[in-house]
Amino acid sequence: MPLHVHAAPDAVLHGLAEYFVAQARAAIAGRGRFSVALSGGNSPKKLYELLAAAPYRAQVAWDKVYFFFGDERNVPPTDPESNYRMAREALLDPLDIADAQVFPVDTSLPPAAAAEAYTRTIQAFFAPEDAVFDLVLLGLGDNSHTASLFPHTPVLHDTSVGAREVFVEEKQAYRITLTAPLLNQARAVAFLVYGADKAAAVQQVMQGARNVEEFPAQLIAPAGELHWFLDMAAAAALPPA
Ligand code: 6PG
Repeated sequence: MPLHVHAAPDAVLHGLAEYFVAQARAAIAGRGRFSVALSGGNSPKKLYELLAAAPYRAQVAWDKVYFFFGDERNVPPTDPESNYRMAREALLDPLDIADAQVFPVDTSLPPAAAAEAYTRTIQAFFAPEDAVFDLVLLGLGDNSHTASLFPHTPVLHDTSVGAREVFVEEKQAYRITLTAPLLNQARAVAFLVYGADKAAAVQQVMQGARNVEEFPAQLIAPAGELHWFLDMAAAAALPPA
């Protein structure tokens, strides 16, 4: 489980941008395309802006990259809370990505129907192969949730390979999330976590006793590579390397 700890968030972002580019180039060279599930929230916005600018912009054949979402808020795509809107503003529009390469969750549907539709969308994209993302980007909440796999929610025990709706008590709102089995089928998973407020969650998820109810990110154990990109503040509770 490669751990990339950098002194400051900017160095973490460059480290992950270089990894993203390397994964994309290898996938495109080997299989003709690169499928990535984007994470939402605040942490990845600067990563997306970095990828859409020099030098990274020129290092990927972006017309061969296909964008999915690891989770989505149950809001319209124009809502400030929308992960799709954030990715469109920070990455997809600046790179002029064609709509045919982007697969947002259809949040115009009720949550359960949106999740079922997204499962079908993902399965259709990968058919007849299994749904194996080349890369899944994930963040980590200070309560150890990742994607929208929140503590003490039924989705933590969902064995399906797809997307599911989840009602998040603390937010009194629905989310749509990829399930842990689908995330774990990925060729590679990269967590991007920075900030002192995440140090306890990082330590619990990486070193704590297995307790997925409390620390859902412990469910992430991909068939492929698992990388953590952290700044020193988020890694502060880990033992020295
Ligand atoms: C979301 C994300 C979620 C996020 C964590 C961390 O939709 O909010 O997918 O899992 O990665 O909540 O969020 P921050 O990066 O904003 O701290």
